[in-house]
Amino acid sequence: MDATAGRADWQHTTVLLVEAVDALLTDADGIYVDGTFGRGGHSRRLLGALSPAGRVIALDRDPQAVAAAAAITDRRFTIRHARFAALASELAALGVTELHGVLLDLGVSSPQIDDPARGFSFRFDGPLDMRMDTTRGESAAQFLARADERQIAEVIRDYGEERFAVQIAKALVARREGGQAVRTTAELSEIVARAVKTREPGQDPATRTFQALRIFVNAELEELEQGLNAALEVLRPGGRLVVISFHSLEDRIVKTFIARHAKAAFDRRAPFAQPAPMRLRALARVKPGETELRANPRARSAIMRVAERTEVAWAAAT
Ligand SMILES: C[S@@+](CC[C@H](N)C(=O)[O-])C[C@H]1O[C@@H](n2cnc3c(N)ncnc32)[C@H](O)[C@@H]1O
Repeated sequence: MDATAGRADWQHTTVLLVEAVDALLTDADGIYVDGTFGRGGHSRRLLGALSPAGRVIALDRDPQAVAAAAAITDRRFTIRHARFAALASELAALGVTELHGVLLDLGVSSPQIDDPARGFSFRFDGPLDMRMDTTRGESAAQFLARADERQIAEVIRDYGEERFAVQIAKALVARREGGQAVRTTAELSEIVARAVKTREPGQDPATRTFQALRIFVNAELEELEQGLNAALEVLRPGGRLVVISFHSLEDRIVKTFIARHAKAAFDRRAPFAQPAPMRLRALARVKPGETELRANPRARSAIMRVAERTEVAWAAAT
């Protein structure tokens, strides 16, 4: 398949569009990074709010998202095929040293979920791929074909918070040893449905396993840790960090990161030394309102956290 193919009618409804751009924008002449371009909802609105001197640098690890960005011909806009964990080297390549804001709208886009060929969804049958960046890395099917039972169970338990992780891993390995490794989303859903003994209301039994494999295949939590650190290093004082997460594992990382940098850091080995100044101030935690949830049920688990890079002098004085 052409890595940049994708039907034009698979649209993405941007979550917290107005709230995220309002939270991000502090200077209409500023330089902003949209680390998760998707189909560009946030990028477009941001461009609309910036002056002719402003700039948006967008990143996405998915070649289809990067191809979709070609529709934006605004000279203030740049798209890069990159992971946001690689923010520092992407900015260095562009000669940018400081940012007014970084936005991360985590997870997958609707075009990724709705395209059976991407293998993200148990609702459609397709190859069990799940890579956001289809140009590199191991697919979910390849992982399940090589990993041992303990590794599979750990991934499903840790990233899916699935109580039946061991049973699912056993069933997957038994099938593989019987000569039929799992290759498709439908095969995986079927095996999981048989191994999961109790049903959560309103949830497909495969939900947790699919989430776990997706997080693992794309190293999503490591990406997030690295992306947050990289953003903090390049935000100018007063610059904003805006992160929208879609499950508790992500939100916990964002919340802990902000809290860790929102207090002066004492070095226990050097109790009389000046503490390292706080670097972030938590500003807001926002969830979609009723109207948005009615229009876009996929927004239901979204949590947006906003933090501001502190003025260095102000932070040192407090
Ligand atoms: C929820 S969508 C973003 C939607 C976008 N805000 C919009 O309005 O269209 C998430 C996007 O981020 C991308 N993505 C996820 N993790 C990434 C990472 N670590 N680096 C770069 N892109 C990533 C995905 O490929 C996907 O296109």
